[in-house]
Amino acid sequence: MYTDEEIRERLSKYGAVYLPEDIKEDIDDIKGNEDKKDRLDDFFKGLKKYEDISEQLKKTKLSPSLTLLLFGPPGTGKTSLTRAYAKQYEIAMCVVESDRLVSPLLGDTIKNIRNVVELAADIAKENGAFLLFFDEIDAIGSERSNIHEVGEIKRAVISFLQVIDKVNYEGTPLAIFGATNHQHQLDSAIWRRFTFHLKFDFPNYELRKEIIESYLDKIKNANIGVDDTIYKRLDQEYVKIREIHTNLEGKLGREISEFEDNLLWNEIEKKKDVQGFLKLTIGYSGSDIERGTRVALFKVIQTGVLTYDIFYDSLKLVGGTAVHVERQDILSHSKQRKGKEKYTSSRPPTSGPPEI
Ligand SMILES: Nc1ncnc2c1ncn2[C@@H]1O[C@H](COP(=O)(O)OP(=O)(O)O)[C@@H](O)[C@H]1O
Ligand SMILES: [Mg+2]
Repeated sequence: MYTDEEIRERLSKYGAVYLPEDIKEDIDDIKGNEDKKDRLDDFFKGLKKYEDISEQLKKTKLSPSLTLLLFGPPGTGKTSLTRAYAKQYEIAMCVVESDRLVSPLLGDTIKNIRNVVELAADIAKENGAFLLFFDEIDAIGSERSNIHEVGEIKRAVISFLQVIDKVNYEGTPLAIFGATNHQHQLDSAIWRRFTFHLKFDFPNYELRKEIIESYLDKIKNANIGVDDTIYKRLDQEYVKIREIHTNLEGKLGREISEFEDNLLWNEIEKKKDVQGFLKLTIGYSGSDIERGTRVALFKVIQTGVLTYDIFYDSLKLVGGTAVHVERQDILSHSKQRKGKEKYTSSRPPTSGPPEI
């Protein structure tokens, strides 16, 4: 058995170690993403009962593979949702900063990858289920990495895949997660090796409303005054957008997403009377909204009450990850492809399998 201290000490050179009691997030703190929550729930249940599953799978000659890839823009909940499940299911994890594994010397890169996976596998064998989370996994085997020679990149990828296969083959209860914001740059062999692929995205206006309200509620729960007009105006804006959205879908005879070809926001722009948080936060991630809330709190410390204007200005100040420039493009009916690309950039690489 490894003690908590040993786990922390031995893994900390690769990244952040989280024992369940270290984790603050709960699943409910991450709003929306219901489809991903279902998948993660199944996965973690499986991981907990790994011995049964592994026996069953062996009978079918399917080798069990505890691998899951999370992809999509930064700040959309990939890491925190995983942590929340690790806490819920009481599974220790390590978030590996993948670029720390990459060295200009190929031999070192391969050794680092092997060492961290083998150490985690050993912990899992001794202590039970463990989760190794490779953040920015595209750093392994992409042109972003420090390795410049194509042949060497391939060899690092191959050694990564081999060590994962070995762990899976031995039936060790080690889950291997990968997360990336650059799925297009991810080596397609790595993409294919992951059994599950979960796509994260910028929240649509409905989810942004829910996220904004959840942060307002947190402020309220901390006994800080929140001007009620914030909630009211948020509701009003939502109702207006919802109505335009429904009408547009009626006109087109099909469902459309907020981000599809700017259709919805072009329509809203024609009406001119939508102003507020939801319009401001197109292309914001959950994390951007959280940062905006923090900025607002600094003001509120001085004024005592969170007002509509303070909150609006703070959200505006932090800006959205999908960059203001592109949002301007959308609002000015620009046909520029650049802006559009940003919003739809979370497709898997074409060589990968369809999302499951
Ligand atoms: N859907 C969401 N609901 C509420 N908060 C969110 C949501 N998505 C992101 N956040 C906030 O942003 C923070 C950062 O998210 P994180 O998991 O680090 O994103 P990623 O790993 O995708 O880059 C979270 O801890 C959370 O506070
Ligand atoms: Mg992350």
